[in-house]
Amino acid sequence: MNNVDITNSQLHFQPEDNYKKLSLHSWFPTIVGVVDCPFYEEVKEKFCEFYNINDDVDMGMNWSAFHNEKDVWVIKKFNKWVTKNVNEYAKFHKHVTPFECTESWFIDYQQYTHNPWHKHNGSVYSTVFFLVSDKNDSPTCFRSPEYGDMKNPSGVTSDTAGEYRFYNTVSAPTCRYAPIPGRLLIFRSQTEHMADFKTTKKRVIISQNFNQKKVESRMEYLTNNEY
Ligand SMILES: [Fe+2]
Repeated sequence: MNNVDITNSQLHFQPEDNYKKLSLHSWFPTIVGVVDCPFYEEVKEKFCEFYNINDDVDMGMNWSAFHNEKDVWVIKKFNKWVTKNVNEYAKFHKHVTPFECTESWFIDYQQYTHNPWHKHNGSVYSTVFFLVSDKNDSPTCFRSPEYGDMKNPSGVTSDTAGEYRFYNTVSAPTCRYAPIPGRLLIFRSQTEHMADFKTTKKRVIISQNFNQKKVESRMEYLTNNEY
C-alpha cells in the first residue's frame, strides 16, 4: 500500500462493498512540491554575479530580500516562476490564492556546516532552491509529524535506523531530497526540515517564505491574473 488520495472519493460506501478487503485511507499527508527550473543556468549566473557568490569565500547566511528586486530581469523572472509554482501548490490544497513572497534569503554554506532541524513558523509555505550544489552532496531532509514513534513498530535497530527498506511513504520518519542543481522544493512552513552536513566544496541555496497576498477584490484579482 502506498499513499492513496481518497479526498475526492465517496466515503459512505456500503458494508457489502467492503467485506472482503481492508480499505486503507491516507489522510493529512505531508506534501512536498518538486519542480526544476527551465532557465536554471541563467538564474545561477545572474545570482552569483549580482551577489558576488564565488568559490573562494563562503558567505554563510545572507538576508538579501531579493523578492523585492525590481531591476534585475532574471531575478524578477525567477521570483515570478517560484511564485507561480507556490500558488499551484496552494491550489492543490484548495487554499485561497494568491500567495506572495514575504521573505527571502540565501545560504552560502561554509565548509563542514549544516542547517539543523527547524521550521519556518509564521509563514504558510516555504521553499528551498538549489542554486549551487552537487547532486552527490548531503540531502535536504523533511521530518514526519509522526517522527516520535517510541514503540518502534518498524523494528529497526540502532545499526539499521537509517535504512529506508524498513519504511514506505506512510511510515518513514524522514525523507531526503538530493540537492539537484536548479531544483525547487515547496513545503508547508511548519514542516520540520534540515540540511545535513555538506560534503562538497560549494553549496548555495535560496530560501523563501510565502503568505497570503492582500487584495481588494479577490474575485477580480483571480479573473485578471494567472494565479
Ligand atoms: Fe529552512
